Amino acid sequence: MIDCRQWCEDYSDRAYQLQSAACMLSLANGGRRQNMRVKFAECLIELVQGDITAQEVDAIVNAANSQLAGGGGVDGAIHRVAGKSVMEETNRRYPEGCPTGSAVPSGAGRLAARSIFHAVGPIWRGGMRGEPALLKSAYRRCLELAVEHACQSIAFPAISTGGYGYPMDLAAEHSLTSVRDFLIECGQPPLVRFVLLDGGALGAHARVLEGMVESR
Ligand code: APR
Repeated sequence: MIDCRQWCEDYSDRAYQLQSAACMLSLANGGRRQNMRVKFAECLIELVQGDITAQEVDAIVNAANSQLAGGGGVDGAIHRVAGKSVMEETNRRYPEGCPTGSAVPSGAGRLAARSIFHAVGPIWRGGMRGEPALLKSAYRRCLELAVEHACQSIAFPAISTGGYGYPMDLAAEHSLTSVRDFLIECGQPPLVRFVLLDGGALGAHARVLEGMVESR
């Protein structure tokens, strides 16, 4: 069986040809998309299908609400695995919560990560209420926190695409654009992983990332 899970693209034509070949092979491989990695300014953006709580990275991003009150989805899963020390810490340090489009750090309790960045994405209200700028800003603030905390790696879920209703294709475009622009501007952190729960979410992000490669 051909293993094309680990492939990496850089700015050379030859690497791009290899990437295209690997991508076609992965699609031929039962039609199931595999993990994808693309390099921007010496930093990797990686797409994987999986559970955000299982990631062994320096920082894990939570899809929180502005009260930092906990909830379902990513928020519920992270607090369940991390344990109650995380909610105790966020209640103590952030009694006012966190504004939409921003993020705040905490320890990570029983998670393998060192830190959790609680990011508040926008609720989708049709796209004319500043949602794209707020979503991009939530991702950017997490990357700034990653640099401030000297993180080598950070894992994001698809913020706002669950309970908050942001269309997956648009969220993929806006989040990946924000991350790519930050990496090109700042050159760190070295690894940014998007952890997508299902094949549809992974495919939506892979299409955007492939488009970024083709357009440069
Ligand atoms: N790992 C990775 N992705 C996950 C996981 C998980 N364990 N659980 C859910 N997801 C996916 C969802 O399928 C969705 O695509 O993460 C994405 C974000 O969904 P939500 O967690 O619902 O986050 P969001 O849309 O930002 O809504 C935030 O929901 O749980 C509440 O307290 C939270 O009020 C806040 C709101």
